[in-house]
Amino acid sequence: MSISFFAECTVLITGASAGIGREFARQLAPAVNTMILVARRNDRLEALELELRIINPHLEVFSRQLDLRDHAALERFCNWLDESGLSVDLLINNAGLGDRGAFIDSEWERILAMLRVNIETLTYLTYRILPSMRKAGFGAILNVSSVASLLPVPHLAVYAATKAYVTSFSEALRAELRNANISVTTLCPGPVPTEFDAVARRDPETNTSTAAREVFSVSVQEVVRRALNAVARDKARVIPGTLVHLSMTIVAFIPMYLKRLIFNAQATRKKNAFASPARPNYEISGTI
Ligand SMILES: NC(=O)c1ccc[n+]([C@@H]2O[C@H](COP(=O)([O-])OP(=O)(O)OC[C@H]3O[C@@H](n4cnc5c(N)ncnc54)[C@H](OP(=O)(O)O)[C@@H]3O)[C@@H](O)[C@H]2O)c1
Repeated sequence: MSISFFAECTVLITGASAGIGREFARQLAPAVNTMILVARRNDRLEALELELRIINPHLEVFSRQLDLRDHAALERFCNWLDESGLSVDLLINNAGLGDRGAFIDSEWERILAMLRVNIETLTYLTYRILPSMRKAGFGAILNVSSVASLLPVPHLAVYAATKAYVTSFSEALRAELRNANISVTTLCPGPVPTEFDAVARRDPETNTSTAAREVFSVSVQEVVRRALNAVARDKARVIPGTLVHLSMTIVAFIPMYLKRLIFNAQATRKKNAFASPARPNYEISGTI
């Protein structure tokens, strides 16, 4: 794939301060005209902006510090986007987070963060940006989901369910937009070595790395290369990594009753590995 497919585009990337989002910015920077980068860690965004500008003097970069759990802040960002006159050609809904451990012991704040960032923000940004794509007569949306969207995952129950939403929503939207010249692609990575696992871990001391994760791991550069290739070729879904892809193809043919037996065994094995302290007291600061 030639990166020139994205020549002169305006791209919006959420979660650009780390991992997969930052790599999207790096790989797209030589081609696109304008980049809008969103995340909470402003120092990271500024460092990335500087790096991109030095290597790509033609590039216009707008970094926006934004907590995507905060709907009012998201609304202000979308209004700024409308008023700026920037028309987004490629929307990469990448920001996301997980939470490893038993649902019964989870903190409501973490659940709410996943529901808001992984589902609500992705849906709202798509909702706000689609009209300008329709007006322009073209556009592309890349939604970052996960292989966890393709089957329930004990001890990642809410995360997997949020990603199931992303995959389902993206497939349906793709069909709706077929005649509008707007493509929708779903990226479903397996394990990728980023900060994701450290964020998803409840106890920093817990080692969540397993031999299986190592074997299935695909580099962030490869994941992004494969994803951009899929967008350029208007593919519906991409599962980077031959082993991951093959495994998910096999999983699709396993009957549900067999999957349940496997889930039960996994859940028992993980029970101790991800044991967390008793559920803390918390105050509900909002609902989705
Ligand atoms: N790594 C994997 O193994 C893996 C596998 C499958 C799918 N994925 C998906 O890939 C996507 C990117 O993950 P990653 O692996 O690159 O993880 P990462 O290194 O932890 O990066 C996550 C990004 O999301 C942003 N983010 C999280 N919460 C946010 C909030 N409230 N407001 C604004 N931005 C927020 C973070 O920025 P700030 O913290 O600066 O706000 C960061 O830039 C996620 O959707 C994840 O579910 C990852």
